[in-house]
Amino acid sequence: MSQRPAPREVVVRAPGKINLALAVGRPMPDGYHPLATVFQAVSLLEEVTATAADGFALTVEGLQADRVPTDGSNLALRAARRLAEHVGIADGVHLHVRKGVPVAGGMAGGSADAAAALLACDTLWRTGLAREELAELAATLGADVPFALLGHTAVGRGRGDLLTPALSRGEYHWTLALQDQGLSTPEVYRMFDELLGGLDVEPVPDRALLQALSSGDPEAVGLALGNDLQPAALELAPHLAETLAVAEDAGALGVVVSGSGPTVAALGRSRQHAVAIAAALTAAGVADGVLTATGPVPGARVVVGERAGQPRSGDRG
Ligand code: C5P
Repeated sequence: MSQRPAPREVVVRAPGKINLALAVGRPMPDGYHPLATVFQAVSLLEEVTATAADGFALTVEGLQADRVPTDGSNLALRAARRLAEHVGIADGVHLHVRKGVPVAGGMAGGSADAAAALLACDTLWRTGLAREELAELAATLGADVPFALLGHTAVGRGRGDLLTPALSRGEYHWTLALQDQGLSTPEVYRMFDELLGGLDVEPVPDRALLQALSSGDPEAVGLALGNDLQPAALELAPHLAETLAVAEDAGALGVVVSGSGPTVAALGRSRQHAVAIAAALTAAGVADGVLTATGPVPGARVVVGERAGQPRSGDRG
């Protein structure tokens, strides 16, 4: 533990993600599917405020907050408890989550909460874990949690938790079509298995996409967007086909269901074009809400609670 005085309150922001490419293989014995995915962190942020407390409690506000569980099943609370157990301390925490990432939308909002909670409690309790150790804890909480810590652009293998940072040039402008009815990730994977019918495919990262990202070519990135889970998401939520079609007709460079859905991500040519795609989606009535966002952005970061000029070792961006 550090000798520095512990702050009373820490605020951390962590981003949601879009899977620009998601290749999925046949389930492993533990039920998880081997993945080869390319993540991009985008400017929809979860903000977690951690305040010293005796027990563990959580409150939520913001985008679709009424759909977030606040009991012990909440991933941010589980993250705080996991860290306390890991370092063997008896401290509690109150977590307040301000949501900016859609709930159950395939953009890893819950995972961003968990990543933010880990970093916030690590800072609040002065446990001083290295980023690598936090990433290991993160992987025990969920496949997408390590990426919410890392941010930027990365290739995910294994369950999606084995990360390698990827080179990406330029800024990408997204329109996100939200749905009120979320999709359950396990259900989407189950439907994927049903549709795939036992085909044994080895998931590999999309080389054309990685090339397009490293050269900063949005048109080529748009063409290379892809998601093996998309047919399963469409089977469970057939109306998404219309959402995809409207975004395509609005001239999106590429359109894809994000992760296990149901959020649809459309890549615009510019910020203005992303706003125009959002207007087309709203006018056609094929989304319950629309947002625009840019990527890539950094992973979880302390915004209040760290003394200025003393960034954590291993911090990026
Ligand atoms: O790890 P996480 O809790 O986010 O995963 C939710 C569910 O999604 C898992 O219980 C599993 O059913 C499915 N999943 C999978 N293969 C992955 C990631 C998630 O089958 N690589």
